[in-house]
Amino acid sequence: MRILVIGSGAREHALLRALRRDPDVTDLHIAPGNAGTTVLAQAHPVDVADPSAIAALAEQVRPDLVVIGPEVPLVNGAADALRARGVAVFGPSAAAARIEGSKAFAKDVMAAAGVPTARAVAVTDEAGIDAALDACGSPYVVKDDGLAAGKGVVVTEDRAAAAAHARAVLEHGHPVLVEEYLAGPEVSLFAVCDGRVALPLLPAQDFKRVGDGDSGPNTGGMGAYAPLPWAPAGLVDTVQRTVLDPVLAEMSLRGTPFAGLLYAGLVITAAGPKVIEFNCRFGDPETQVVLELLDTPLGKLLAAAAAGGLGDTLLSWRGAAAVTVVIAAENYPGPPVTGDVISGAEGDGILHAGTVRTDDGLVVSAGGRVLSVVGTGSDLAKARESAYALAASVHLRGSHYRTDIALAAAEGRVHVPGTA
Ligand code: AMP
Ligand code: GLY
Repeated sequence: MRILVIGSGAREHALLRALRRDPDVTDLHIAPGNAGTTVLAQAHPVDVADPSAIAALAEQVRPDLVVIGPEVPLVNGAADALRARGVAVFGPSAAAARIEGSKAFAKDVMAAAGVPTARAVAVTDEAGIDAALDACGSPYVVKDDGLAAGKGVVVTEDRAAAAAHARAVLEHGHPVLVEEYLAGPEVSLFAVCDGRVALPLLPAQDFKRVGDGDSGPNTGGMGAYAPLPWAPAGLVDTVQRTVLDPVLAEMSLRGTPFAGLLYAGLVITAAGPKVIEFNCRFGDPETQVVLELLDTPLGKLLAAAAAGGLGDTLLSWRGAAAVTVVIAAENYPGPPVTGDVISGAEGDGILHAGTVRTDDGLVVSAGGRVLSVVGTGSDLAKARESAYALAASVHLRGSHYRTDIALAAAEGRVHVPGTA
């Protein structure tokens, strides 16, 4: 099987790594990729935001399957452009990708499907801000209802800061969503979907804030781990029954079946799992740990989903734990410092994101999230040791990473509210 992966992050590097392990995958291509992906796949330049450029590339590469990593091409209709040319693709149509592209659309789908989620009030002008904050209460959750790469959300007890964020988003011409705050640990659950069947992968936990102890602003994700030793019994079955199956049924009913990766961002509240967001693609950095633990051949799985034939596929998992730590450039999540030489970035378990190779063979930083190191072990404590040993072996001037990824879980300090 020849597979073309679209994207350039550590998520795509992890996808390539997992696809390489599949004996049926003989030929891998990546567009545009990064300095780390070239050893696994042949690289092609492409503007990922342009569906017709992706389709033209596919006509040249002639893959058996295209796997689309990021949300932007999906929301722009890359999967539609490929399907229109008869190319098999793992990724939803633009109409189905709205589940990520518009939070208001996602809320509408959840309301129709009876999916538990936070109460939300849409705000379209400044005059509506105060009433929405009053209705939802403190801590205030104020969201930019446009693609914001995980950085458009402010959660704060500071009323003035909440109102200021709402005004700033409106000034950018985006609608605002104010939400009820959900208390409890967060879970990212991915499901491989073929339009009818949703097949959940292992639940993982992401760390969105830039600093240790969940301090500082939100980022695209600073680390992740799986499995979740603290997860309530039957969590995945509950989410399948209350979230995944109803959403797939509702999307089909609307004539826009969801085929691709459905990412449910959940809070495990005292009243059970509730959805805070959906994404229409693999999460970054959770993919780095989830795929590290997957034993089932990935190419065959994604091809089956793309062909609408998941049926009753059963997945197998390594009985191990995985931790990933994101190494970010100086000043991230603000505008990152780029162009610095990275050393120690070769080796198993070091996945690249914002990296490029210069003409003289040096690897230099080219983005906010630069690398994602992945460690595994028989438990989370050992997986942490291995991930942090890798992180310490990388040198990039001014870079930073969190030191507490998976620490609370490894020490048994993550609790679902209302449980002992
Ligand atoms: P989102 O972009 O919607 O995933 O939000 C980013 C982050 O903000 C989430 O991962 C949560 O940490 C936090 N967040 C979003 N919505 C809520 C909510 N309703 N209650 C509590 N935290 C939230
Ligand atoms: N890790 C969060 C995301 O992929 O959106």
